[in-house]
Amino acid sequence: MEPVILENEPSVAHLLSILRDRTTTTSEYVARTDTLASLVVATALRSAPFKEIEIETPLETAKVRRISEKEVIAVPILRAGLGMERAFLRLLPGASIYHIGMRRDETTFRPHYYYDSFPVDLSDKTVFMLDPMLATGGSAVSAAKKLIELKPNKVVYCGIIGAPDGMNKLRTTFPQIDIYLAALDKRLDENAYIRPGLGDAGDRYYGTL
Ligand code: PRP
Ligand code: URA
Repeated sequence: MEPVILENEPSVAHLLSILRDRTTTTSEYVARTDTLASLVVATALRSAPFKEIEIETPLETAKVRRISEKEVIAVPILRAGLGMERAFLRLLPGASIYHIGMRRDETTFRPHYYYDSFPVDLSDKTVFMLDPMLATGGSAVSAAKKLIELKPNKVVYCGIIGAPDGMNKLRTTFPQIDIYLAALDKRLDENAYIRPGLGDAGDRYYGTL
């Protein structure tokens, strides 16, 4: 499927304008990330495993569509992906969360994998990867490789800002992954930062600049 980019939505444009702004305080950055992540994840639920079921309303029997929350897993990529975890759990509190630790080496721009809490098998699961920044795509591809070895039913990537390089790398390596982003920015700079971007998402979220 074609990546879904939400930046033309007024709510998304508004929240992005605050996240991108260097004068935004850490506490405001945290709160606005949470709201924007809700919008991205809510849209990404298009890729969730829905089942048609019959329920009784107080008035009659009705056929409804419901997500099988037990078949859904979210994987926030540490650290910055943690900023999208609460938004995910508000929408699907019955989903399980497994973490993966990935840190980009800021000289080589290659991802350094340092942690995961995965079970041995993800069959029948739909996995939502949560990471705000898709820059070179190295971290996302490396995390997706780990996940796909565990044979999930489906993998979905939810992010805030992507660069064309990273998005294309993820798409060409794993065409089966559905991609949802709040924005697709112009380019990467010589330090592999997304421009105009929002800077270092983890540092801004945790106030570690
Ligand atoms: C950021 C971001 C992604 C990665 C993207 O994490 O959250 O995981 O960079 O860059 P890439 O597409 O070029 O791999 P970072 O490595 O800065 O770690 P942090 O979240 O702990 O700050
Ligand atoms: N990681 C970030 O946090 N920001 C970027 O612009 C690129 C990678």
